[in-house]
Amino acid sequence: MNKICVIGLGYIGLPTAALLANQGFEVVGVDINPTIIETINQGNIHICEPELDKLVNNVVIKGKLKASLKPELADIFIIAVPTPLRDNNQPDISFVETAVKTITPYLKQGNLIILESTIPVGTTEKINYFIKEIITEITPIYLAHCPERVLPGNILKELIENDRVVGGIDEDSTKKAALFYEKFVQGKVISTNSKTAEIVKLTENSFRDINIAFANEMSMICDHLDINVWEVIKLANLHPRVNILKPGPGVGGHCIAIDPWFIVNSSPNLAKLIKTAREVNINKTDYVINQIKNAATKINEPVIACLGLSYKANIDDLRESPALKIVQQLALEKIGKIIAVEPHIKCLPNNLNNLENLELLDLELAFCKANLVVLLVGHNDFINLNQELLESKIIIDTQGIW
Ligand SMILES: NC(=O)c1ccc[n+]([C@@H]2O[C@H](COP(=O)([O-])OP(=O)(O)OC[C@H]3O[C@@H](n4cnc5c(N)ncnc54)[C@H](O)[C@@H]3O)[C@@H](O)[C@H]2O)c1
Repeated sequence: MNKICVIGLGYIGLPTAALLANQGFEVVGVDINPTIIETINQGNIHICEPELDKLVNNVVIKGKLKASLKPELADIFIIAVPTPLRDNNQPDISFVETAVKTITPYLKQGNLIILESTIPVGTTEKINYFIKEIITEITPIYLAHCPERVLPGNILKELIENDRVVGGIDEDSTKKAALFYEKFVQGKVISTNSKTAEIVKLTENSFRDINIAFANEMSMICDHLDINVWEVIKLANLHPRVNILKPGPGVGGHCIAIDPWFIVNSSPNLAKLIKTAREVNINKTDYVINQIKNAATKINEPVIACLGLSYKANIDDLRESPALKIVQQLALEKIGKIIAVEPHIKCLPNNLNNLENLELLDLELAFCKANLVVLLVGHNDFINLNQELLESKIIIDTQGIW
């Protein structure tokens, strides 16, 4: 089990590939994006994750990690490609199917395939049939799901320290996959079957989504009743068995905003709470948009500085970001001049690029120009602001920081 091929070099695949290369494995990272391949082979990275730049540079220079557009023969194939939603919140596993199809010409007897992408229940079994249809003559091929549960911003540490759940399509697959993770994971490696491993990951993210939805619902109720929700949560959390999470402008990212739909989709008549939580969190984003629009009507020529575009604090990931949706909607509806401040990106993403009343500025300039300031993301850069800066502005703080 010395050579590993990691398919998909994004937020999960690249740190995984680099970490394994650093553990002494020979790693080939595969992606369909030539710019990513070129960047990594130059020893650089295309995503923002603490310490990852140094690690990638180090393992590329040592020749332990190389990136390629094509897979190679290997002992283990790890698949970490996107699993987004299609229309009507249906899971789209086509990236996983395509990735599996690409590796089939390189499979040999005894290979282990690990699906690390978050997948709907039953996908590992489906992929097993899919592989067997394409290659009938090569056996055994081991196949397992091992969901990833790292926290962006702390990925390299959590890849090693977190407990892992491993579920194979049969006992041998589970054993092989567990043995592999035990080589570099310091947390517990727990064996189960593939369907259980699949739903464990979806359950974790649905749990988070439901708890955030509760906080968001309380924030809207408190707003309606003219009560400070942050004080309410602080006081309620003094109860020894209460731990209410933080409200915000909605829920984003490639996990919590998406994965609960996989459960809803698999059990539509039963997953009522999970579906409602999703709807509450989506609705919270619209609620914030309306709060900003109401505040803007009280200003002659509104210039609205929106602080933060990413889906959570101190990262550059804009996927499913409620902050991004809010900024886009304000600009599209032409609710004044909109200034976006996002210290983690250099230019606006494509979907915001052509909006004429929107510009990306640094914090200082944004404060000079704006009369309405909306804190959307709790980046460190926004927390310790000089309070004098806030004095002459109308403030909407979705993070309870100011
Ligand atoms: N980002 C997270 O925090 C996180 C956490 C846990 C689980 N996950 C899951 O991990 C999976 C990957 O997420 P991510 O955040 O790394 O996505 P990402 O979009 O950052 O990276 C995916 C990469 O896969 C590449 N790709 C797509 N199809 C490919 C193919 N056929 N062959 C090779 N490369 C291909 C893309 O170009 C991209 O670079 C998803 O299922 C996600 O739900 C993500």
